[in-house]
Amino acid sequence: MSRADTAFQKCINPDCLAEFSCSEAFFNCPECGELLDIRYNWDKIEVPSKLSDFSKRWAMRNNRLDFSGVWRFRELLSFCKDEHKVSIGEGQTILQQNDNVAKYVKMKNGCLYLQYEGLNPSGSFKDNGMTAAFSHAKMVGAKSCACASTGNTSASMALYAHSCGLKSTVFIGSGRIAFGKLSQAMDYGAQTIQIAGDFDDCMRQVQDVCRQLGLYLLNSLNPFRLEGQKTIMYRIIEQFNWQVPDWIVVPGGNLGNSSAFGKAFAELKELGLIEKIPRIAIINATGADTLTDLVNNKGLDWNGGRVNQEVIDEYYADLMARKFSPHTCASAIEISRPVNLKKCLRTLDICNGIVRAVTDEEICDAKAVIGKYGLGCEPASAATLAGLKYLIADGTIGADEKVACVLTGHELKDPNVTVNYHKEKQGEFSNPPIEAANDINEIIKLMTAKN
Ligand code: F0G
Repeated sequence: MSRADTAFQKCINPDCLAEFSCSEAFFNCPECGELLDIRYNWDKIEVPSKLSDFSKRWAMRNNRLDFSGVWRFRELLSFCKDEHKVSIGEGQTILQQNDNVAKYVKMKNGCLYLQYEGLNPSGSFKDNGMTAAFSHAKMVGAKSCACASTGNTSASMALYAHSCGLKSTVFIGSGRIAFGKLSQAMDYGAQTIQIAGDFDDCMRQVQDVCRQLGLYLLNSLNPFRLEGQKTIMYRIIEQFNWQVPDWIVVPGGNLGNSSAFGKAFAELKELGLIEKIPRIAIINATGADTLTDLVNNKGLDWNGGRVNQEVIDEYYADLMARKFSPHTCASAIEISRPVNLKKCLRTLDICNGIVRAVTDEEICDAKAVIGKYGLGCEPASAATLAGLKYLIADGTIGADEKVACVLTGHELKDPNVTVNYHKEKQGEFSNPPIEAANDINEIIKLMTAKN
């Protein structure tokens, strides 16, 4: 590792802190096995002196890097040369202020914002991370890659892999993936291995397979992916005219996003580019609530990097003894051993964050409200709104605070949950189709009937 480099990899374990060059590919610290961070030698990078300078790049959209909603912020993730940077036009997302959705959670007008990451090329936020990780893969000359996935990672990885000529293999849990996502992986040409198990089983297998076969791993264990995901926060604050909101609300699955968001804000603060760090609320589904349980009930915290491993080990041993497998209709976050747990605890520390869990029923109602008034989203994304409703009701978040919910995946990713909710009248906002005879009078009667 050379100090002349703009970036390097560093172990997050305070008792290790080993450093490695970015020209190597690991998915955890070769010295101690802990997670790795990407760190920057900021004095070697020409970071714009004010954030608004990044916005000027919108005017240069025929430059492929300026067009990308990730690489537009390239000085803040300066780990590879421009010639290695892969882009398929990711990050063209919008922050929508939505008063109708605000009304549902009893917030004041003008306070609730929805960050639509479903507008990415593969339909989820994952593209922010893949563009960064594939750039690193190109830099290290990777030929084949793999991931375990609840669906969106595999769709995104498969799309980027064929775009830059890598072979890709995805590991999915049997029957655990929404059809929209599975169809993408197959259509984009990934080899798809369906394992008789859940996501956590797939995650374990893929790490061993990658080690044995020398494949490039694209799960969020990969620290380069998280660098790309930081830009979701940059785009949110850009749309707030470079002010930070009071709260960011994000679903929690493997905890890559929350980890990346905390790092994004810590770095902006360190660089003197923001004054205040927003608070973060991470929302689990009750059927997959490891983070909530560990933080709220077992008192687990970052503790300066010395996280109490015994508490985690005991918790996981108990899950194993009970043969626990997580279950939620929000299949994207159906995860009980989140690989980024420790980095997420760091984010909670940086952002004075909180965690909550919401039921599938609450998720489905919130999803229907977002569909009715916004651009729609998949179930995991709607956990944010369901969580926010709680946090407003119990006074944790004020009705007049500025809140941005990150809607991580597109509505069409999981049509089954949507159709079941509406057709089977599962909730307050169900909007079922009306059956009509093939007869004009009958049809008009039904259309104009008051119910
Ligand atoms: N929302 C969606 C739509 C997701 O696909 C995921 C994760 C999350 C939220 C959770 O994000 O892991 O950063 O906490 N999906 C992964 C996958 C696990 O394989 O597609 P996280």
